[in-house]
Amino acid sequence: MKNLVILISGRGSNMEAIVRACAHEAWPAKIAAVIANRPDAAGLAFAASRGIATAVVDHRQFPDRAAFDAALAQTIDGYQPDLVILAGFMRVLTEGFVDHYSGRMLNIHPSLLPSFPGLKTHQQALDAGCRVHGATVHFVTSKLDHGPIVAQAAVPVRASDDAAALAARVLGTEHVIYPRAVRWFVEERLALDGGNVTLTPPEPQWLFLDHTDNDTSANAQTAGEGA
Ligand code: GAR
Repeated sequence: MKNLVILISGRGSNMEAIVRACAHEAWPAKIAAVIANRPDAAGLAFAASRGIATAVVDHRQFPDRAAFDAALAQTIDGYQPDLVILAGFMRVLTEGFVDHYSGRMLNIHPSLLPSFPGLKTHQQALDAGCRVHGATVHFVTSKLDHGPIVAQAAVPVRASDDAAALAARVLGTEHVIYPRAVRWFVEERLALDGGNVTLTPPEPQWLFLDHTDNDTSANAQTAGEGA
């Protein structure tokens, strides 16, 4: 039985997807706690409603990153996690914190890394004229939004998209690949080989959004125009 600790900053929809998958698929795992860096993080209510322990370590109460990260690690370690899951946790972490959870901390980032680390990834993809965009689950290393890739999902960029529409499409895929990646960890199927991840036995570590609505043709047209 693996202990999972999930860190959130806000809405927590990826956390919800992981909590639901853990229950529905009867993973040999327990969501030991959901921890937020903001007392008003909306996802805390969902976690509490599922009987999951919640905690807040408010970054504004600490003089610097190191002090915050030390307090956060102390809270996390109280739950003896096998895996720490960053699910919309919007804090830059210190090297010491990242090293402490080396090989046992996952993040999801809303872009096809290594493209578009940082913020406003959907607008960045639109501004760059990308035809596909997506999300990446990766092991966390001290370089922000980098680290060995566990799974990626790609979605089409449609001619009519604004950042919000694109974000919503990507988020739908996040809710598929993140629980899947966490399950692989729980099942001890992930191995780190330098910068690469091996999944045993293998299965696709990617997802292409299978979209069947009218926008399919619109998108095909857009691609044609660009060619
Ligand atoms: C998600 O789109 C996640 O990929 C992103 O924040 C959102 C959180 O949504 N994370 C990052 O940008 C981290 N760099 P959620 O709270 O509903 O899961």
